[in-house]
Amino acid sequence: MKRIATVAEMRELVDAWHEAGDTVALVPTMGNLHAGHMSLVDLAAQHAEHVVVSIFVNPTQFGPSEDFADYPRTPDMDLRRLQRAGVDVVFEPSVEEIYPRGTDGVTEVVVPDLSELLDGAARPGHFTGVTSVVTRLFNICEPDTAVFGQKDYQQLVILRRMVADLHMPVSIVAAPTARADSGLALSSRNGYLNADQLEQATAISAALTVACEALQSGAEDYAQLEHTARAAIDAAGLSCDYVQIRAAVDLSEPGADTLNLVVLAAARLGDVRLIDNMLVTRAV
Ligand code: PAF
Repeated sequence: MKRIATVAEMRELVDAWHEAGDTVALVPTMGNLHAGHMSLVDLAAQHAEHVVVSIFVNPTQFGPSEDFADYPRTPDMDLRRLQRAGVDVVFEPSVEEIYPRGTDGVTEVVVPDLSELLDGAARPGHFTGVTSVVTRLFNICEPDTAVFGQKDYQQLVILRRMVADLHMPVSIVAAPTARADSGLALSSRNGYLNADQLEQATAISAALTVACEALQSGAEDYAQLEHTARAAIDAAGLSCDYVQIRAAVDLSEPGADTLNLVVLAAARLGDVRLIDNMLVTRAV
């Protein structure tokens, strides 16, 4: 497994692969890899001859009061896992390599509207940070395919929109959410939780499951389902930010004939913000 830290070296290698007729799949990550990330890597290997995993904790997607400085960084463990998975290249650039002119006043990629909903309302600027860094990673790694987790569903929808709007020559593949046996969606931020909190946090996936089952059984009162799910999450000692039932394709408010839905939730547990979502096809 090759470790690359510069744009020039990454480009040179990818260009050589492409010249040889090979395809490249990119898995962008911020490190602290868990089984969920590794399932993205496995999926990437099914889509291309070469797999590149980027590890870059992107400062521009963290708000001023968020956990950029404290975000868990576990490079040794990450490299061991990626080596075992047979990844070709780990791209681990510095902040200066990605943002040579600094992070203030530099070119941004903005996906309007979608970036302001749901998590975007709670985390202003977050998704612009994501789309701005993913564009840079795409330009550097020139992947044919890029794999993102369904766990960050709004991020996935925004990135699909960005790729379509800007005619980026990359196909986006979504990896299903990896869950603990308890149902809790795997996330690097689970590492901030103690054993009791990990148990409490299962209220989110449990509430989403109840809502999805009701939708599959033909329930039509979305506001009531959202209210019930929020109450269940709060009752477990979390502070629910939102539960929303939206159209899976574009996160719009579902109409009477919208069949493919996503139920999304965000909640705080102490200082930790947790998100989860489930896709469901409504009964007709
Ligand atoms: O999902 C993540 O880990 C990040 O938002 C991403 C896509 C790597 C961009 O920094």
